Amino acid sequence: MSYVPYGRQVIDEDDIAAVADVLRGDWLTTGPMVDAFEAAFSSFVDADYGVAVSNGTAALHLAMLAANVGPGDEVIVAALTFAASANCARYVGADVVFADVDEKTLTIDTDHVASLITERTKAIVAVDYAGIPCDLDELLALASVHDLVLIEDACHAPGAQYKGRPVGSIAHMSTFSFHPVKHLTTGEGGMVTTNDPELANRVRKLRSHGISTDFRERVEQGTWAYDMVELGFNYRLPDLNCALGLSQLEKMTGWIDRRQQLVANYNLAFEKLDHVRTPSHPDDRVSTWHLYPFRFTGEDANTLRSEMFDRLRAEGIGVNVHYLPVYWHSYYQGLGYKRGLCPKAEAAYGGLLSLPMWPGLSDQSQNRVIETLISNCEDLFALR
Ligand SMILES: Cc1ncc(COP(=O)(O)O)c(C=O)c1O
Repeated sequence: MSYVPYGRQVIDEDDIAAVADVLRGDWLTTGPMVDAFEAAFSSFVDADYGVAVSNGTAALHLAMLAANVGPGDEVIVAALTFAASANCARYVGADVVFADVDEKTLTIDTDHVASLITERTKAIVAVDYAGIPCDLDELLALASVHDLVLIEDACHAPGAQYKGRPVGSIAHMSTFSFHPVKHLTTGEGGMVTTNDPELANRVRKLRSHGISTDFRERVEQGTWAYDMVELGFNYRLPDLNCALGLSQLEKMTGWIDRRQQLVANYNLAFEKLDHVRTPSHPDDRVSTWHLYPFRFTGEDANTLRSEMFDRLRAEGIGVNVHYLPVYWHSYYQGLGYKRGLCPKAEAAYGGLLSLPMWPGLSDQSQNRVIETLISNCEDLFALR
């Protein structure tokens, strides 16, 4: 019986050839593929600027620095996300204030965000959970009134739309990840997109030590001289990875269609199950579904989820859980965050199970997931 992963990359011969071409050329890093990938990806999300970085976490870190977030500031972060969405605030010495999520979309609850804003609030990190865009207009309105920077952690949502506009072109800065389970991969990789030239320049400088020019620019200008104007990092994304990303991007539209088809199949199959909630979102948003978050509801949701997780894994189906509320992790518990802070995120977490969701998932494999899950549901419900 073959193992069905919850997510994985799709690599074809064109991708391999694109990387091999770079290996034969002069520039393995800081070369022309970086510019080409940045231009193509930012155009895909309709943003004026894109800065490629070494991963999605680096994108968030640099977004924090570009927003001038620092010690003493507070950053409001969605509670139901990968730890990196909050850790970036800690990297720059700021305090994280966790906001609960909307019960239906599991994206950040804007009313809760509004109630958490203080004199110290500097930024909001809103996560497009599973691929569903958060309520960007409401968040931008709050940001405008309170002079905050809205950073959209769009790692789950390239290609998604909010009120007809692509995610990546709406918030002050949006961040993406190109990890192998994401929509397109560069191995490791990430990008910050923005329409603001100053923010883009700052991120670009900080990704390369805080130096004002990169190596290729100095070669072209015939100079060795460079100036490190502020303390930055080496968060560059090599040409090898950018060439892979560029080749992958050509397949994105078809992959997104496939993800949407897989979600429609799952939703239809699970329609009649009791004690279960399938993912949905308001009509004004288009999700591109990084995850398929299947959810048990009711008193014994957590028991059902744990039992189902064990049964599906035993049958070779690579289910997962996204996410433990971030402040339940030991590091954040050690900082004094108490359980109970975000009840809707905690309740959702208890019942959530991510089912296999990636464009290479065949109909046959998906049917196996569906049949195995439904028969185990019937069995578990009969035992209640
Ligand atoms: C919502 C979210 N933010 C940030 C990240 C971090 O991205 P990376 O793994 O590329 O550092 C991830 C990756 O899992 C993610 O899912």
